[in-house]
Amino acid sequence: MAKAWSPTSWQAFPAQQQPDWPDAGHLDRALKQITSYPPLVFAGEARSLQNSLAQVAAGNAFLLQAGDCAESFEEFSAVNIREKLRVILQMSVVLTYSLGVPVVKVGRIAGQFAKPRSSNTETVDGKELPSFRGHIVNGDAFTDSARIPDPERLVQAYNQSASTLNLLRAFTKGGFADLGRVHAWTQEFVESSPEGQRYEQLAGEIDRALRFMRACGVDTEATHDLHETNVYTSHEALLLGYEEALTRQDSLTGGWYDCSAHMLWIGERTRQLDGAHVEFLRGVGNPLGCKVGNSTDASYVLELCEKLNPARIPGRVTLISRMGANKVEDSLRPLLRAVRDAGHPVVWACDPMHGNTITSAGGRKTRDFDAICAEIDGFVKAHHAEGTWPGGIHVELTGDNVTECTGGADKILDSQLDDRYQTVCDPRLNGRQSLDLAFHVAEMLRSTGLA
Ligand code: PEP
Ligand code: CO
Repeated sequence: MAKAWSPTSWQAFPAQQQPDWPDAGHLDRALKQITSYPPLVFAGEARSLQNSLAQVAAGNAFLLQAGDCAESFEEFSAVNIREKLRVILQMSVVLTYSLGVPVVKVGRIAGQFAKPRSSNTETVDGKELPSFRGHIVNGDAFTDSARIPDPERLVQAYNQSASTLNLLRAFTKGGFADLGRVHAWTQEFVESSPEGQRYEQLAGEIDRALRFMRACGVDTEATHDLHETNVYTSHEALLLGYEEALTRQDSLTGGWYDCSAHMLWIGERTRQLDGAHVEFLRGVGNPLGCKVGNSTDASYVLELCEKLNPARIPGRVTLISRMGANKVEDSLRPLLRAVRDAGHPVVWACDPMHGNTITSAGGRKTRDFDAICAEIDGFVKAHHAEGTWPGGIHVELTGDNVTECTGGADKILDSQLDDRYQTVCDPRLNGRQSLDLAFHVAEMLRSTGLA
């Protein structure tokens, strides 16, 4: 029998990857301030997402989880948010139309600030400083003062999350996400490119389908689902003090929810079964994710599922594999078998980014588009072989025309990475690469007969 859970019970467990805040009193004041603020999301919304994820777990829907590696305090504008949303909506249209199932859209957005690091310090030209841990903790500039953790940043992250969520709600409910506007989402750079033309063709087919429905007497104007959509929010629940400050008791059910986002996930570096992150998240009612790298074995995954979801609620747990293109097929199959045979109703999603990070000749962290596609292919093949549903993808992307990942239709070379390398953390797919990836996923699923 597990010990009693409370929003503070994690404090008795070892917590990896927590910043070294220099002033405990200041941290305490900032967290108290956030505790007094309104929740960012509501328990009922988290439950709606959970119901949608239950459909994914059952093989009747597909999960698209996407957004920045790390949101930035500096790159914060309406245009930036709109362009990210636009790419997510475009990918979702491609996937929905090609797979013939609903796409559950979850952004790495409105709270994806904190970053785990492999090393506590970073050395440049012989100078050693504390690592950058995301704008919610410290600054990315390589100076002594920027790297000092500042609790005021927690409050700023809350405020930026609230504004971002406000705009997301307006865009998704206020006409921007109307299916009748699929053509209007076409960005300039997409119009002139091969995958852009494919997208335009698909948008034309959707127009025809809508006209067909109207001709058959369906009142498409009055059909809500054609005019608005849901884009849920998610982030890695890394800073447990911040997550605790936003954890509230639902007045309807009496259950506890982490109201910082609809879905929270546990990262590869903090998923210890006896660690604070698993302890904290097992007690909140939100749908949860957990990254699983190629060192994971079946007994770990089963114990994790048991801890996070003893009641076996469908869709409560999403296992996000991030194995590397060369390893995914062999490493994933035993895990799929074990979870399937134990009857855990999980969503399996593929993060094709974090197992394929390399350093370019010029010293930039990058990922090659072909390796990203290859990891998705291995993921789909493993599911096909085990008779399980490849439930979704989890990717780092931006709507901007950045040069952070190599390859793709523009054939971005190592030598071009410096042109527009803007991420504050890991390299993201740009708009064209993201759309191309959606077509690739759709083709892979169709060619294996899974869709
Ligand atoms: C991330 O998703 O940005 C991340 C740090 O991933 P992982 O925990 O899988 O390394
Ligand atoms: Co990342």
